[in-house]
Amino acid sequence: MPNPINLTVDLGDRSYPIYIGSGLLADRQILTSHINGKQVCIISNDVVAPLYLGKLKALLSGYELSEIILPDGEAEKTLDNIAQIYDALLSSRLDRNVTLIALGGGVVGDMAGFAAATYLRGVNFIQVPTTLLAQVDSSVGGKTGVNRPLGKNMVGAFYQPQCVIADTDTLNTLPDKELFAGLAEVIKYGLINNLDFFNWLESNIENLKNRDVDSLIQAIKTSCEEKAAIVASDEKESGIRAILNLGHTFGHAIETAMGYGNWLHGEAVATGMLMAADLSWRIGKLTIEDVARIKKLLKSAGLPVVPPESITNSEYLSLMGRDKKNIQGSIRFVLLENIGKALITADIAPEILEMTLKSGNMMGEAS
Ligand code: NAD
Ligand code: GLY
Repeated sequence: MPNPINLTVDLGDRSYPIYIGSGLLADRQILTSHINGKQVCIISNDVVAPLYLGKLKALLSGYELSEIILPDGEAEKTLDNIAQIYDALLSSRLDRNVTLIALGGGVVGDMAGFAAATYLRGVNFIQVPTTLLAQVDSSVGGKTGVNRPLGKNMVGAFYQPQCVIADTDTLNTLPDKELFAGLAEVIKYGLINNLDFFNWLESNIENLKNRDVDSLIQAIKTSCEEKAAIVASDEKESGIRAILNLGHTFGHAIETAMGYGNWLHGEAVATGMLMAADLSWRIGKLTIEDVARIKKLLKSAGLPVVPPESITNSEYLSLMGRDKKNIQGSIRFVLLENIGKALITADIAPEILEMTLKSGNMMGEAS
């Protein structure tokens, strides 16, 4: 087994490593070096547990081990399920020395992280992400939480894990649609901060879709490097971290309006990023050629680029009006100055925003 890539999220005495590589779910040393006490509880779901729970448990002989298996799906990212986790932890009499391990995609990771942040006022937590999206984004940076009917991720906490262990072998069982959804967040890093990476993605998108291991590891590494640097400079999103939300203002509105789980998070972010690119062009930033270039890459990554027709402008405005980035009632947008450079603005005329909202499949075409 080659040595894993080992990156650091630099947060002073709360710094932690991100391990990326093949075969990490067979590495007892890495996992156990981040567990303090004897009690370990693995939190997973009913899709991932049959695939990988046995492997993880096999690394943990000698520990007092328990497991909580949640129902699968974005619609299950709820406070009710958090309460189920608390009750299971309490009935197993797990104390402050317990380590919670999230085994799964972003839904499991966000919920297990929130449970870890709040159970007994905070216990040890390890992320073992098993989707591309979770390996490049949700497992890193400490955002945890759940959805509410009126908005995505509206209740939560910043709570950093002890480490992130991203075993790229787990991606072998991921359905194509989920792999492609993860590519949306990968493309995001190129768009917001790294033109070279965007260029590389344009040349390697077929390799990534075909799960070429070296290309996937390269994409995960670069994505995590980008995210770790941004989180290290602005952990609680008082400024620059907001650029990680490119496409999310529109995307979260799509996910909420369409019903959680009907559009995958990555799919909604992909379409949302194109809407943000369209809006950037309309305010005189991005060129129309660059909007078309972004659309082409998203399409070739197998991602949707046309927003659902059923969402009305007033629904968008109402949902976007509750975005966590908003300040004093103004919607704050993450837009693009260029490919590779994000900007944040609340200064968008309503009639310009309306043009983006109704541009549908015409985005990327001058009209
Ligand atoms: P997910 O967790 O729902 O996983 C997608 C699907 O793949 C699920 O059905 C899951 O059970 C299944 N799955 C997971 N690993 C698998 C594997 N190895 N093989 C086969 N199937 C597997 O979705 P996701 O895309 O991983 O994460 C999306 C969530 O992450 C959203 O709730 C989003 O809000 C959140 N998110 C959080 C952050 C953050 O910073 N905390 C960042 C981005 C996204
Ligand atoms: N996914 C956005 C963030 O972590 O800030």
